[in-house]
Amino acid sequence: MKALILVGGFGTRLRPLTLSFPKPMILHQIEALKAAGVTEVVLAINYQPEVMLNFLKDFEAKLGIKISCSQETEPLGTAGPLALARDKLIDGSGEPFFVLNSDVISEYPLEEMIEFHKSHGGEASIMVTKVDEPSKYGVVVMEESTGQVEKFVEKPKLFVGNKINAGIYLLNPSVLDRIELRPTSIEKEVFPKIAAEQKLYAMVLPGFWMDIGQPRDYITGLRLYLDSLRKKSSSKLASGSNIVGNVIVDETAKIGEGCLIGPDVAIGPGCIVESGVRLSRCTIMRGVRIKKHACISSSIIGWHSTVGQWARVENMTILGEDVHVCDEIYSNGGVVLPHKEIKSSILKPEIVM
Ligand code: GDD
Ligand code: MG
Repeated sequence: MKALILVGGFGTRLRPLTLSFPKPMILHQIEALKAAGVTEVVLAINYQPEVMLNFLKDFEAKLGIKISCSQETEPLGTAGPLALARDKLIDGSGEPFFVLNSDVISEYPLEEMIEFHKSHGGEASIMVTKVDEPSKYGVVVMEESTGQVEKFVEKPKLFVGNKINAGIYLLNPSVLDRIELRPTSIEKEVFPKIAAEQKLYAMVLPGFWMDIGQPRDYITGLRLYLDSLRKKSSSKLASGSNIVGNVIVDETAKIGEGCLIGPDVAIGPGCIVESGVRLSRCTIMRGVRIKKHACISSSIIGWHSTVGQWARVENMTILGEDVHVCDEIYSNGGVVLPHKEIKSSILKPEIVM
């Protein structure tokens, strides 16, 4: 079986954390696909595929799954990339293939989805979930007992319902015949038509779900993900007297004496957290150094950045790649573009270019 992940390009809404950002999510997705019997994954991407591919090479061998990139020269939206990767997705078997949005985090009951798809005999299956603010998403009106989708409305202005498209699809190869090679939206141009022909079916996704395309949602998504790890495989979480709540620390990261870490913290490979540091509700990406007695909360620290001693970084501060925060600096919600040095405090949320 095959799968395509819509990786996209510059994560515009998560700038300055551009492409490298969703890697951990993508790994999580590839693992789930593999477990459901997928042997080949295509990453639909419109920016720097090398970065992604280098990173995934080890993973390819470890998991025994084939991973390739399909690179767009212009952004093709959420449907165009399927047309571009057509030859990679069709293998003559007639089997359906998976399509995933890369910026969502959830559990992936993909085997159940395959069963569901077989049972209804339609052309396409999608997962749906309930949210409080449906207008930001693709809203689905469905027949409860059969799952048949009556209406699919992308980002409706008026309330249509609270079940929304979770960004996880299983599509018959015939769906590709509906998509032209041009920038086009699967949500606006493809799903409404399949629904009108009564061939689109939806299954309610059990468990948590979050679109983490925006920083605040990302921090919440991390909390939900760590909660679910606690229930399913708590051995992956860190433990000890310096850990509070759910914390995940890469095995290659080094944590100094007298730190207090958690809740809801993720620390990436090769990070160095010096002594007496306080971290809560934050993500520390690969290769970051946090110096003595720094305090970070509700923030994302991009790859290879450093945070100086006694610095205080909080309130949705986002540091791009290779940012250096000097000693004793305070950042209240600063969004800092890559390769910057921060020498004076950022007192209110603003973008630092
Ligand atoms: N390759 C490629 N090229 N990928 C793209 C492009 C593109 O031009 N544009 C967007 N993507 C990827 C994004 O990176 C993301 O993984 C996915 O396609 C969805 O795009 P978003 O821009 O994040 O859309 P959204 O969040 O507003 O809405 C979509 O997701 C919601 C669930 O999170 C829709 O599918 C909604 O219907 C859905 O409810
Ligand atoms: Mg999104």
